[in-house]
Amino acid sequence: MRETFSSPLLAPDTRLAHAGGTRSADGGVVPSIGVSTTFARDADYTLPTGVASYLRSGAANWRDVETLVAALEGGFDARLFSSGLAASTVLFQALAPGDHVVVPDVMYHGLRDWLRDFCARWGVAWATYRAGDIDSLSGAMEDGRTKLVWVETPANPTWEVTDIAAAADITHRAGAMCAVDSTVATPLLTRPLELGADFVVHSATKSLNGHSDVLAGLVVAARDSDTWRRVGELRTGGGAVAGPFESWLLLRGLRTLHLRVERACRNAAGLAAFLDSHPRVSKVLYPGLESHPGHAVAARQMKGGFGSMLSILVEGDAATAKRVAGATRVFVPATSLGGVESLVEHRATVEGPHSPVPPNLLRLSVGIEAVGDLVEDIDRALLAAYD
Ligand SMILES: Cc1ncc(COP(=O)(O)O)c(C=O)c1O
Repeated sequence: MRETFSSPLLAPDTRLAHAGGTRSADGGVVPSIGVSTTFARDADYTLPTGVASYLRSGAANWRDVETLVAALEGGFDARLFSSGLAASTVLFQALAPGDHVVVPDVMYHGLRDWLRDFCARWGVAWATYRAGDIDSLSGAMEDGRTKLVWVETPANPTWEVTDIAAAADITHRAGAMCAVDSTVATPLLTRPLELGADFVVHSATKSLNGHSDVLAGLVVAARDSDTWRRVGELRTGGGAVAGPFESWLLLRGLRTLHLRVERACRNAAGLAAFLDSHPRVSKVLYPGLESHPGHAVAARQMKGGFGSMLSILVEGDAATAKRVAGATRVFVPATSLGGVESLVEHRATVEGPHSPVPPNLLRLSVGIEAVGDLVEDIDRALLAAYD
């Protein structure tokens, strides 16, 4: 069996293009999908080596994705989950009552809402820090009590950039673990484990899959640990696993990750530059712009692009912003991010009545279309919304 994708000598692009290698017994150049939920034992009632007895405990289609993403992140190992949220929440579920966690004030709202409920019910204390502000993070730590520090960079939906190396250093000095949601950066632009993080989390629903047709998530660990083993127990015990077909689709999406990320980053940079001087836009939030407060850190820790996500504050209120979103023809007015098709969303509506997001903010997930069409579309929608 050839497994070229796992050779550490190959560049990420090559590993991605060969994702899954030629694992198939029939020599097929893409892996087959193993749909069986249960696996036969030998005559002495032992399981063949490397085979799980039941699909909730292990699947070859998961391992294809996990091996590849662990290698791309430079990690010890990875675990695939049924969603990005399942991959995120498991790290908090691995804590004990009485533990203390530190999380940013800007983060994926689904996790923030879940945490509020979880921490109250499970007796986990939490403190917040200003996203991107290392002094604020330092001030939120409780020596000996803080067990987990959460970083999301760039942070959804205003794209604050947090210095991962500095955050990991502060975390470790307090005896805690640092986890980074690197969904927007992808393993190609930032490698948090090399900067000192203990865990990386991805919503694989986004750029890793890239085609808006799979819900999945990953945790990658820098090393083996009690927490890492607990993450495995919680996945099997809780059952938040990905199906074989979803895993296979994700692997297929990963084969073109490098091309999609490169193009989407270029498109986003072009759009950000255009919108930065647009008369109907009061502010562009994009780490690639020199005016962005996190630009210097982003330039250091993001290699090859600043991501495909940006937000704009339009002149006017929520109603104006929604009119702009509704007037686009190429951008699809929908939530989510990291797909090949560009999306525009009124984030405050999606996050609900308690959202801290400015009412005039539109979040743009930039895809791989011709940038001229994207520029023309958003320009026309912006001008039409004020007629
Ligand atoms: C940055 C980030 N992390 C995690 C998630 C959760 O991922 P999923 O929707 O796959 O559960 C999202 C979803 O939008 C996200 O944007």
